[in-house]
Amino acid sequence: MTNKLNTQAEEALEAAAHMDPELIEELHEEVAGSAADPEAIEREQAQVAASEAAEAAKHEGQTPIIFLDDIKVTFKTRTGSIIHPNLVHAVRGLTLKLWPGETIGIVGESGCGKSTTANVMCGLQKPTSGRVFFKGKDVTNRTAADRRTIGRVISVVFQDPATALNARMTVHDQLMDPMIVHKVGTPQEREERVHDLIGMVGLPESALDALPSQLSGGQRQRVAIARALSLKPDAIIADEPTSALDVSVRAQILNLLMDLKKELNLAMVFISHDIQTVRYISDRIIVMNGGLAVEEGSATDIFNDPKDDYTKLLLGAAPSLLHPDLGE
Ligand SMILES: Nc1ncnc2c1ncn2[C@@H]1O[C@H](COP(=O)(O)OP(=O)(O)OP(=O)(O)O)[C@@H](O)[C@H]1O
Ligand SMILES: [Mg+2]
Repeated sequence: MTNKLNTQAEEALEAAAHMDPELIEELHEEVAGSAADPEAIEREQAQVAASEAAEAAKHEGQTPIIFLDDIKVTFKTRTGSIIHPNLVHAVRGLTLKLWPGETIGIVGESGCGKSTTANVMCGLQKPTSGRVFFKGKDVTNRTAADRRTIGRVISVVFQDPATALNARMTVHDQLMDPMIVHKVGTPQEREERVHDLIGMVGLPESALDALPSQLSGGQRQRVAIARALSLKPDAIIADEPTSALDVSVRAQILNLLMDLKKELNLAMVFISHDIQTVRYISDRIIVMNGGLAVEEGSATDIFNDPKDDYTKLLLGAAPSLLHPDLGE
């Protein structure tokens, strides 16, 4: 899968190099059209500079766990010809830093590039351009050793716990698996860790003998979270971790994530299309629209004083994005 994605990104780059001038002009117009107002650009630049200065002061002496520097990801779709491929600009130039212990919320409607960003952060997707730093080290063209290190320090919790877990493995073996793969601890230490983990996510020891199919959706997501924690990561990337769950258990899983991040001083990237959920859990929020971060700020500022029209729209549409005004 990763190879396939990488090949796609490389093909897109190659296509860009041989693109015909008309298509390039079209793309330029598209970009220029989206940023026509010079005053708005100036305002935005001032806002970015101010928030960067505040951020740097707050985290003096620390190194970000992840630093995405002007990331762009372009996919070539199957439609279009080889000479004129149709390109999807999933991420159009995103810069962000994830600091130790901090929770960033990424919010935006379907297709705005949230999952693509998450995949770049955890090393599943190579950016078409831009650089990725991991604890200060440039891992844009990562080696196998880089990938292993990233895998130990960053874990991912996906939307659907059913696909994240192996249907034929008991909960015990699923929790053990990452430690065996990464050769962590002695057999006895691993066994102890498995028992700690199941307690940390609020499940009884008896759950260790169960297969995923014998658990409820909420319990499965708890197991997926326990598995994500097994290597004691510095950061967790949670991509819509509650969206596939029954409404009644969403709050429980959110509370669990909140408790764990405090208890373990975890950094977290929490991705959701629902701005209310993101507000609940995040220190800092990034609002994405069409592959760009249109607004960034503390959760309180974004809610009390949203600057961008799209953010206002999202807030107006809350609690549900199924709002008639959001239609295109
Ligand atoms: N492998 C791929 N090949 C081609 N296009 C892709 C690929 N992955 C994503 N895209 C496109 O990139 C854009 C961003 O997708 P992404 O999955 O990042 O959105 P998202 O914000 O996570 O959406 P959702 O809320 O629905 O999960 C979409 O237009 C999508 O169709
Ligand atoms: Mg997604």
